[in-house]
Amino acid sequence: MSNAKLFFNSEMRRLISLALLALVSVCCDGVWGLQTESLTRELLESTRDAEFFGWLKTVRRRIHEYPELAFQEKRTSQLIRAELDSLGIQYEWPVAETGVVATIGSGSGPCFALRADMDALPIQELVEWEHKSKIDGKMHACGHDAHVTMLLGAAKLLHKNRHKLKGTIKLVFQPAEEGHAGAYHMIKQGALDGVEAIFGLHVDPTLPTGTVSSKPGPMLAGAGRFKVDVQGKGGHAASPHKTTDPVLALAMVVLALQHIISRETDPLESRVVSIGYVRGGAASNVIPETVEFGGTFRFLDSESRSYLKQRIKEVIEAQAAVHQCIAVVDFMEEKLIPYPATINHPVMYEHAKMVGESLLGEHGVQLQRMMMGAEDFSFYAEKLPAAFFSIGVRNETMQSIEGLHSPRFILDENALPVGASLHAAVAMAYLDGHARSH
Ligand code: NI
Repeated sequence: MSNAKLFFNSEMRRLISLALLALVSVCCDGVWGLQTESLTRELLESTRDAEFFGWLKTVRRRIHEYPELAFQEKRTSQLIRAELDSLGIQYEWPVAETGVVATIGSGSGPCFALRADMDALPIQELVEWEHKSKIDGKMHACGHDAHVTMLLGAAKLLHKNRHKLKGTIKLVFQPAEEGHAGAYHMIKQGALDGVEAIFGLHVDPTLPTGTVSSKPGPMLAGAGRFKVDVQGKGGHAASPHKTTDPVLALAMVVLALQHIISRETDPLESRVVSIGYVRGGAASNVIPETVEFGGTFRFLDSESRSYLKQRIKEVIEAQAAVHQCIAVVDFMEEKLIPYPATINHPVMYEHAKMVGESLLGEHGVQLQRMMMGAEDFSFYAEKLPAAFFSIGVRNETMQSIEGLHSPRFILDENALPVGASLHAAVAMAYLDGHARSH
């Protein structure tokens, strides 16, 4: 079959399945809405249980004390498996080194997935509290400890309701969200095989506890990285004419790169090029032989990605040549796979929004603005109808107001049962709605 035909067929199949999904969701909304409401209320009640809340807090604090970086989440993975074992839930392990994929339900379709990321950041925690990180230079400053806890909470709620499940739910605990594309490796190792749709949550310290937010369509940007070596000819700083100054070349390159956004990009399109580090030189009276710098670029689609990549390389090489230096650009794609943009499927977004509103009230779900941050949940969303939601952890009385990736990041643990019940409700309502369509 020709490529064009192949594309047409797969594109047609995709459009037909989208149309069917939309139709099913519209047809079922009346009955489904009522059922979802009673289901979510029931789940919300169970999360008010003091014992359940106490267990969630303990789990989160245990993970918080021992943060682990990308693909090193051995202890976290072990904790997850021990909790699943004690609940009697089956799982596959290891998936992508430390990942765990648990299964609850009938074992037959429809199959829905819920996802949590497990890794921490190379940051020294500056919050003084009883459960502060015990590992120097590592911290759960992006709330992935809470994500794991919420998904374990959902596991407990779903297992309790397992006889009511009209299909199968997979719980995907993945490694290495922070820059190392853990999601990509989970997919490669079959974590999503047989799954029809997926839902994920990320804590957000700008949103009050008890609320969530998201948006249909593009929510987060795609991201790539580059590093550059600029080679010149070193010498005495008092005789610059006898050198080829890579510092000046680097300065001009950094300025020139900004024109890709300000002069070549449609002002209504979202793209970013930022330089994050510059290194070189050791003394004020010496022109160094080489200098280096690196940065990130952000985009919303693959066309923008290719354009930015090509122009970043061209601008750097040509500007360096103007100053008689040689620049070598490395996009490091083998090691650091670029992330696509996170695009929420409109029907899945509506589904999660409806469940969120029945759980948290009409004002509990807010419309989010797009951000140019990136998330490897995007790899799942590229393959399946997916919805990614932010969950509020902001509580001014307990000072949980610092941004993600801050060494002073604190989260309001009252959000843990909210996340657990939202996960469970989104998955159960999806199976209910979908089973009825057969
Ligand atoms: Ni994160």
